[in-house]
Amino acid sequence: MVTGYEHARHVLRDPRFRLPGPPPDSEWSENGSHAGFLQNMLLASEGVQHTRLRRFLGQLFTPRAVRARTARIEAAMTALLNATQGRPVVDGVADISARLPVSVIGDLVGIPKEDRDEVSELCRTISKGGGVASGQPPGHDVDTALTHVDQLGQLVRRWMGSPSQLIPDSVLTLAVETMDTPDALSEMEVVANVFSLYIAGHDTSRNMLSGLLLRLATHPRLLTDLTAGTVDVPAEVDRLLLSEAPLTFTVRVAREGCEIAGQHVRRGDRIRVMLGAANHELVTHGREANHAGVSFGEGRHVCLGARLARTEGRVLLEAAGRRWSDLRLRADPKWTPHFLHRGLESLPLEITWR
Ligand code: HEM
Repeated sequence: MVTGYEHARHVLRDPRFRLPGPPPDSEWSENGSHAGFLQNMLLASEGVQHTRLRRFLGQLFTPRAVRARTARIEAAMTALLNATQGRPVVDGVADISARLPVSVIGDLVGIPKEDRDEVSELCRTISKGGGVASGQPPGHDVDTALTHVDQLGQLVRRWMGSPSQLIPDSVLTLAVETMDTPDALSEMEVVANVFSLYIAGHDTSRNMLSGLLLRLATHPRLLTDLTAGTVDVPAEVDRLLLSEAPLTFTVRVAREGCEIAGQHVRRGDRIRVMLGAANHELVTHGREANHAGVSFGEGRHVCLGARLARTEGRVLLEAAGRRWSDLRLRADPKWTPHFLHRGLESLPLEITWR
């Protein structure tokens, strides 16, 4: 386990450490029924495949592309707040922070609005039985995950079969536009990355947004300052990410024997890189930097959606400053009992609307 900030950055940057890949005896491995599915996900691929997928999907995450999406994120936030407007009590998680990412990822991937809840559910079930770090043997969860991958494949084929109904500037539109070119993604790559973007950008953003709401509810001055326009909003989002890393760790496997912090690591050893703990080292040693620490990872797999996630955070804070005059906790928040995700399960809030 690596907990220090510099050591975490080192492991994530060093090519001697790779992503774990699927367990050799699973259905996701080379000889399994769904071989290639996990390896075709950007966040699980390595080498040439990773470079190719990152270049392809990266087109949707450039500063310009994210700026062009911002008005749609603001519109989704406005729609969410309009739906809860006037209610004195809302659940910050169920009503706001769990819902904004569904719109944002749905729009990014290009999923028709009426199918978004179904896709969220499919992806959630797939990740239970086939998560990248999962070593689960075949069994109920894995079998359900495999069936759901096939269902997701059918949906993707249906969406791509009606190009005129696709959402502009989305993964699916890009996949259709490049279909007969050397850059084309295979069908398996499209399905794998629809799933990959869902799991990468859903719970992580939800955790960040709930953390921001909790901060607003427990630091009343922040809301007043937001309304007055005196807050450096991007820095506020990064401060939250630094202190409450939404993804608490990631895993790497050593390709060869080496040393980390005087400890010998053997070839094949799994290393858990503790992102939240690494950030806390900065905070507790007074080296608190004006950035999000390693919350978005580091090196070749650094989060592709960081700019988009930060935009979601900024949009939430700015909307709160405009529409709420007071926000406080109605009851104690409940943390998710999850080791990988640091976030809230419920956040009862009392809101005074403007
Ligand atoms: C606050 C929200 C988010 C956090 C904290 C977060 C965190 C991370 C971290 C730590 C990694 C690196 C994992 C590793 O190296 O093992 C990562 C990778 C990734 N993230 Fe995010 N993420 C967030 C939001 C998003 C969003 C909104 C998207 C897209 C819609 C996204 C897409 C990705 C992708 C595609 C990768 C894999 C990149 C690669 O392997 O090249 N993330 N994220």
